[in-house]
Amino acid sequence: MLSASRRSEPALDSPKPGVLRRYRQHLPLTEATPLLNLGEGDTPLVRSRHLEAEVGCEALYFKLESCNPTGSFKDRGMVVAVAKALEAGMRAVMCASTGNTSASAAAYAAHSGLAAYVVVPHGRIALGKLAQAVAHGARIIAIDGSFDQALALARTISEKHAFALVNSVNPFRIEGQKTAAFEIVDVLGEAPDYVFIPVGNAGNITAYWKGFVEYHRLGKARQRPRMMGFQAAGAAPIVLGRPVEDPQTVASAIRIGNPASWKGAEAARDESGGVIDAVSDDQILDAYRRLAQEEGVFGEPASGAAVAGLLKMAAGGLDLRGRTVVCIITGSGLKDPDTAMATPPELHHLPADLAAIEEAMGWR
Ligand code: F0G
Repeated sequence: MLSASRRSEPALDSPKPGVLRRYRQHLPLTEATPLLNLGEGDTPLVRSRHLEAEVGCEALYFKLESCNPTGSFKDRGMVVAVAKALEAGMRAVMCASTGNTSASAAAYAAHSGLAAYVVVPHGRIALGKLAQAVAHGARIIAIDGSFDQALALARTISEKHAFALVNSVNPFRIEGQKTAAFEIVDVLGEAPDYVFIPVGNAGNITAYWKGFVEYHRLGKARQRPRMMGFQAAGAAPIVLGRPVEDPQTVASAIRIGNPASWKGAEAARDESGGVIDAVSDDQILDAYRRLAQEEGVFGEPASGAAVAGLLKMAAGGLDLRGRTVVCIITGSGLKDPDTAMATPPELHHLPADLAAIEEAMGWR
């Protein structure tokens, strides 16, 4: 007889087998690892309709990691980290977060019957992300402090109280997240020339590079992309070469002053011949709006940093002719309604009356 958890798993040829089943042979799974699946991975690679011509590349794609079950790329790594925590017999997971990691940890913990403790900087995480942690029943510890302080505390507490720490300092997170690079190669048939990606705690750029290197080594791609990482100017420790005490940016997801995977990000940059650079909040918000209005892609502000980086490099003379470029849209714009509504929206508030509507809209 099949166990309850096995019965609920879709067949391998289902359109959404999940990251664990789809990339099983590339992940550190054992017979005892539960094959959790909330439908993560297999996210769309959408061709640009407008920005492609502006930046002058051969093809520009957006990898919509916002289409993961909790609306961000975190689910790819979280499914591995939580499955391994279950396998190890852990009872609870813990993370520090600017929002998305906590939402993802809360969801996968709920799915698995584990408790979730999330440590977040009070008042600094987007409303939708907090709502997710609340909805999934996580225990939320909102500290008067930064993400960097939250991570330091989460590391200490999880060790002391034997919780599984599911931040990207947990190597299983990186293992899961590298599968996004596999998907890009699987879909394009080759690695792109450039990958533009936002950088916060720097786990994701580290994971993508690991994925591209592994696929290249296996002969699944002939080339490896240049990794182009972008931090927010007010939170750009890697660009500055020193931690930032009080990081500031509208892109709250990447408001991080001392990234845990700093070395991994530098290795990705140096080994790939890429860059880690900064973009201003104005550039981030401009790219965020253009992405939504010219491409139909509603990413969150942090994801705008990747697109802002592309626009900045192209305007600065980077020759992209003949090149294939992928921008990683790391999270959904729905998570941060406050930023979306920050400029007062142009609402036509009218009576429920045809003539009044036609009059106001100038259709008469
Ligand atoms: N984009 C989004 C939407 C994020 O939530 C994050 C990180 C990043 C980019 C940067 O990725 O940290 O791997 O360099 N969010 C973490 C969190 C820190 O707690 O949700 P990174």
